[in-house]
Amino acid sequence: MEALSLANGPASPPLHVAIIMDGNGRWARARGLPRTAGHQRGAETVRTIVEAAAEMGVSILTLFGFSSENWNRPESEVRDLMGLLRLYLRNEIATLAKNGVRLRVIGERARLAPDIVALIEEAEAKTAENRRLTLVIALNYGGRQEIVAAARRLAMEVEAGRIEAGQIDDDMFARQLFTAELPDPDLLIRTSGEQRISNFLLWQMAYTEFVFVDSLWPDFSREEFEKAIREYQGRERRYGGAVG
Ligand code: IPE
Ligand code: IPE
Ligand code: MG
Repeated sequence: MEALSLANGPASPPLHVAIIMDGNGRWARARGLPRTAGHQRGAETVRTIVEAAAEMGVSILTLFGFSSENWNRPESEVRDLMGLLRLYLRNEIATLAKNGVRLRVIGERARLAPDIVALIEEAEAKTAENRRLTLVIALNYGGRQEIVAAARRLAMEVEAGRIEAGQIDDDMFARQLFTAELPDPDLLIRTSGEQRISNFLLWQMAYTEFVFVDSLWPDFSREEFEKAIREYQGRERRYGGAVG
């Protein structure tokens, strides 16, 4: 089976894969459909890729679901996206729980509707003991906002006399981020041919390997996911060191 050959390949599969799921709108436009239709198909791709990641031995899958900047979209699209998120959370909690998937949500929750926050909390609580795969969904997430919030909290600690400015180092800073207890992503995949980071995990991706694919997210398949992982496995990671 493909999943096994990946695990036995020259390099182990990435522990943590992050994905910028892009291209739903273009997928719909190409078919003369409303953008929502693309988001609906995108949600189906999420199901496929979550299961594929678990089967391939990936431990953490982080998906960019809604950025801090996505609030700037037309109100009707934001409403549709939030509606789909509600549906996803309601429908998937049981499946995730059954399949050994732990759900975690990162991002600023204050701006999300209270019923969505309640669904998130319920899903996180119900799946907290699962260990097969950790599925992290970034909602109302912005990398710069996350870094600024961390800096502000540390500044307040200094102001209150609880720490000294000189004590602040990479580790202390990272502990203030939404991803405090998660390792950094090994691999970032972005679909739809765009080659940019769009304010995703700015701090955490300092040494992440990037793979860009042309497929639009609703068309992204398990085979393409496996191909991206194989490409990652062929890379040499240096972290600023000498060529190995
Ligand atoms: C990604 O697809 C989904 C979200 C950002 C929520 P887009 O909606 O960005 O699709 P394109 O980029 O317009 O095709
Ligand atoms: C990034 O995609 C956000 C998500 C996938 C949720 P966008 O479509 O919002 O990014 P830009 O605007 O093309 O950079
Ligand atoms: Mg887009």
